[in-house]
Formats: sequence, C-alpha cells, structure tokens
Amino acid sequence: MGKPVVEIQGLSKIFKRDSFEIPALENINLVIEEGEFLCLMGPSGSGKTTLLNIIAGIDRPTSGELRVLNEDVARVSEDRLAAWRNSHVGFVFQTFNLIPVLNAFENVELPLLLTKLSAEERRKHVLAALNLVGLGERIHHYPRQLSGGQEQRVAIARAIVTDPTLLMADEPTGDLDAQSAEEVLDILSRLNRDYKKTIVMVTHDPHAASHATITRHLEKGRLLPLGVEAMNEQQVQA
Ligand SMILES: Nc1ncnc2c1ncn2[C@@H]1O[C@H](COP(=O)(O)OP(=O)(O)OP(=O)(O)O)[C@@H](O)[C@H]1O
Ligand SMILES: [Mg+2]
Repeated sequence: MGKPVVEIQGLSKIFKRDSFEIPALENINLVIEEGEFLCLMGPSGSGKTTLLNIIAGIDRPTSGELRVLNEDVARVSEDRLAAWRNSHVGFVFQTFNLIPVLNAFENVELPLLLTKLSAEERRKHVLAALNLVGLGERIHHYPRQLSGGQEQRVAIARAIVTDPTLLMADEPTGDLDAQSAEEVLDILSRLNRDYKKTIVMVTHDPHAASHATITRHLEKGRLLPLGVEAMNEQQVQA
C-alpha cells in the first residue's frame, strides 16, 4: 500500500430533474491507496455507479472535495478533464460498449488515436494489451464474432492500452456466465497484482468481491463503515 490515488472528503451528489432533487451520494469520505483493489457493493440505487463516474471524472459532485491522482477532478475544465481521463483512467462497463463496426484491434486502438504515438507504436501497445487478456489470436474479429466473455476481455484491453493508473469497472461480470466471469476476474486480479493497477469494481456478486483486497458498502448514498454491509443487500441479490 502506498500513496493515496483517490481522496474524497465530504462529497455529495444531488441530481436535479425539473423541481425534484434526488440525493444520490451524501457526505462520502474515502481514500483509495495505490495498489488497492476496492470492491463497491450495495443495493440497486445506492449510488455505486454515481460514485464510480465521479471518481473517473465522467460526472461532477455537487459539493465536497475530490482529488484523483493529484488532479482536482471536481473543478478542472472539461477539456483538461477529457485529456486527464484518457491518460490516467480506464473504464470497463457491464455491457462491454465495443464499437460494432470496428474489429478487436481497432476497438483497443481507439484511446491511442488521441495520443501522439506513431502507428507502429500504437500497434505494439494494442497487441500487448490483447495478448495480456489472452486474445492475441482474435485481433481481426468483430464484436459480433466474439463471445460475451471475449468482448469483455477486449473492453479490458481497451481500458488498459494507455497504461492508466486507475481502472474502474462497473459490474464487469454482470452479463457473463460463471466461467467467463472467472476469466475476467482473473485478469483484473492479475492487473492489480502484477501490474500494480489500482482498481475500483462495482459488483453484486460476493464471489466477484472475493477477488478484491477490500470491500466497501453503500446504502442510500452513504458509505457504510468498514466491515458493515447494507441491510437489504442479501435480498437484492436473491
Ligand atoms: N442522471 C441521473 N439523473 C437523475 N437521477 C439519477 C441519475 N443517475 C442516477 N440517478 C439516481 O441516483 C441514485 C443512484 O443511482 P446509481 O445509478 O448510482 O445507483 P447504483 O447503485 O449504481 O444502482 P444499480 O445497482 O441499479 O446499478 C438513484 O436514485 C438514481 O435514480
Ligand atoms: Mg449502477
């Protein structure tokens, strides 16, 4: 464990729709250290995705302090935030979100098109990322020609191709069968253990959570003290 990668203090998020206010996160305090594999659990609507998006700079908090990799993510300009995110944060979604008209190689190459790397350098990075997820033989396959588990592994390759410090995964195994889920979890564990990636993963699955080094629970927008589970979490999973 080392220096803090994410520092959150008194953070709240209120969504406003017409005259309604929906409090999604309330007074969150959380430090994530370099090398942690943090699992976020909690019932549907408890604010897990909202917190993930805010840490990744996809959404902004309503109030509170948030530093991620020494960037004031809550206040920095949109332009700078986009560049910061592209080089420091990788994101993996439940539904893979690959571009259907691009093959595996081209999907993984996308984040590198925003960098100054040459085509040859891009190729090296893309092949390294696809080899790491065990898909070096599938580079010309389109998403529709891949299984769900393979699609998610391409999505992980895309998330790590820029060598980000922080990897965010929102229910990465939610749409996968047990065996594909295990392969994805193994890759995430390896990225954490061997490549020192700091990982934040949302999951409903206690088995998936067992791959993490620490688990925190959200309930109604509040982060529960370490070691405490949300009251209705078990019912939600059933
Ligand atoms: N863009 C938005 N506009 C308005 N309300 C939102 C928006 N996004 C989320 N919310 C609300 O914020 C709360 C938290 O939502 P969030 O998506 O973070 O929950 P979650 O824990 O990820 O749930 P799930 O397990 O179902 O994915 C919910 O009440 C949701 O309706
Ligand atoms: Mg969610």
